[in-house]
Amino acid sequence: MRSTCFLSLLHVVVLLALFNVPQVKAEDPYKYFTWTVTYGTLSPLGSPQQVILINGQFPGPQLDLVTNNNVILNLINKLDQPFLLTWNGIKQRKNSWQDGVLGTNCPIPPNSNYTYKFQAKDQIGTYTYFPSTQLHKAAGGFGALNVYHRSVIPVPYPYPDGDFTFLIGDWYKTSHKALKASLDSGKSLAFPDGLLINGQTHSTINGDQGKTYMFRISNVGMSTSINFRIQGHTLKLVEVEGSHVIQNIYDSLDVHVGQSAAVLVTLNQSPKDYYIVASTRFSKRVLTTTALLHYSNSHSPASGPLPNPPSYQYHWSVKQARSFRWNQTANAARPNPQGSYHYGKITPTKTILLENSAPLINGKLRYAVNKVSYINSDTPLKLADYFNIPGIFNVDSIQSLPSNNGPAYVATSVLPTSLHDFIELVFQNNEETMQSWHLDGYDFWVVGYGFGQWTPTKRRFYNLVDAMTRHTAQVYPNSWTTILVSLDNQGMWNLRSAIWERQYLGQQLYLRVWTDQHSLYNEYDIPTNVLLCGKAVGHPL
Ligand SMILES: *[C@@H]1O[C@H](CO)[C@@H](O)[C@H](O)[C@H]1NC(C)=O
Ligand SMILES: *[C@@H]1O[C@H](CO)[C@@H](O)[C@H](O)[C@H]1NC(C)=O
Repeated sequence: MRSTCFLSLLHVVVLLALFNVPQVKAEDPYKYFTWTVTYGTLSPLGSPQQVILINGQFPGPQLDLVTNNNVILNLINKLDQPFLLTWNGIKQRKNSWQDGVLGTNCPIPPNSNYTYKFQAKDQIGTYTYFPSTQLHKAAGGFGALNVYHRSVIPVPYPYPDGDFTFLIGDWYKTSHKALKASLDSGKSLAFPDGLLINGQTHSTINGDQGKTYMFRISNVGMSTSINFRIQGHTLKLVEVEGSHVIQNIYDSLDVHVGQSAAVLVTLNQSPKDYYIVASTRFSKRVLTTTALLHYSNSHSPASGPLPNPPSYQYHWSVKQARSFRWNQTANAARPNPQGSYHYGKITPTKTILLENSAPLINGKLRYAVNKVSYINSDTPLKLADYFNIPGIFNVDSIQSLPSNNGPAYVATSVLPTSLHDFIELVFQNNEETMQSWHLDGYDFWVVGYGFGQWTPTKRRFYNLVDAMTRHTAQVYPNSWTTILVSLDNQGMWNLRSAIWERQYLGQQLYLRVWTDQHSLYNEYDIPTNVLLCGKAVGHPL
């Protein structure tokens, strides 16, 4: 048997040589983009203000990919400040070089460019991109990032008749520079001025009666959870950040900051226009905005009261979150069913308990994790690692468990882990506000939400059977959320609050997923076009 194989391989090689066929590697398709980032003036809430445009668009262009596409995206920065985009939910396998956060990349200086090169490897789903630098996200620069399935891998729902994106987020009339100045002076941001859907307060979606459409909903805002609902219509949930979920029907969905979900909506009502509603959750003042669902055969404008928001109670939202389950027989981007990975049978190698807080440090408001408030270094941590530049980050500052003694302090904190660790990560929130945590480079199983203080006895409430994977998990006030992460992706990965004020003022850290074995099998080489800054300047590659 073996010799036959060998012969046939030889045969091919000889044939190739004979016919002089160039040796093309069966590579995944490449997609090329050039994006230019500029300021513009728009009036999303009625009065003119400065916004960030990409190729003249606000929100930025929709990045449509197919699983395993290679992306070559040249980003040209025409702002007056250094800038980076991060690809929220793209796992960047072996490739934290392209993650687009300040711990992995030098920011692109004004009037300069950087060409991102990454692959949407083994993913299908609804994602977003947004600026990771300063408070740029508050001015725009964000957009939809959809990864469609390859024809050889079917998705577990009928092909929709169309596909609509809803980028929803709270919005300020104040410029990103003024917002940043406020945070720099130690003052929290005020409550946002409004809520936008696709950069507007009055957009319209057109569909045909009887047809079924996919609605991709993402919370691209700064701080506020939202609820999404459609007058007279239900939402059939099919996908959450790359997980194919049990297809439950919902009247409305809570989407927390940084999260995405895809639902199917059937236009099965009488022909008229209907309100699509987004409103803020758990806020004293409720911001509401609408869009219109226009039936193509409609001659009546939308009318009647807006559909009611769900109960204010956190319990309602927790209950909904617990109803999101993996469809274990459905495949993901690969043909093997999601349930074939028995995550619940794996014993974690390490438990990490992270507690958020909002301390004063030197008299100013900061946000911290286990008493450490992160500060960026001028040298990206990834480059410090690569060039062996000492003194850039500190692997002893942040501990795996909260500490009760001592005041909070600032540090460039990195939590060391080993490649192939399987970690239990508990987010403990003893504050009165909603939290939302995102991990780059991974998706993770969200196995439990609970009230009060987490203790090891809470493990008996974990869903170890059909929890779904996602990249951003919410944590309710005075509650905990546990995730399980299989650390199979080497690199320097940002773990951050998706609540942007908290991220900016230090509620983040990096997970260094490391092995001493240097191998291209585990991690790609530094890109040849890498930007160098800080102490990395002048180092030969
Ligand atoms: C900037 O763009 C040019 C093409 O216009 C490209 O050759 C170059 O590699 C880009 N710079 C970086 C750092 O990626
Ligand atoms: C799970 O996915 C399968 C496709 O593999 C689909 O036929 C089935 O309807 C889905 N089940 C639920 C409950 O969503």
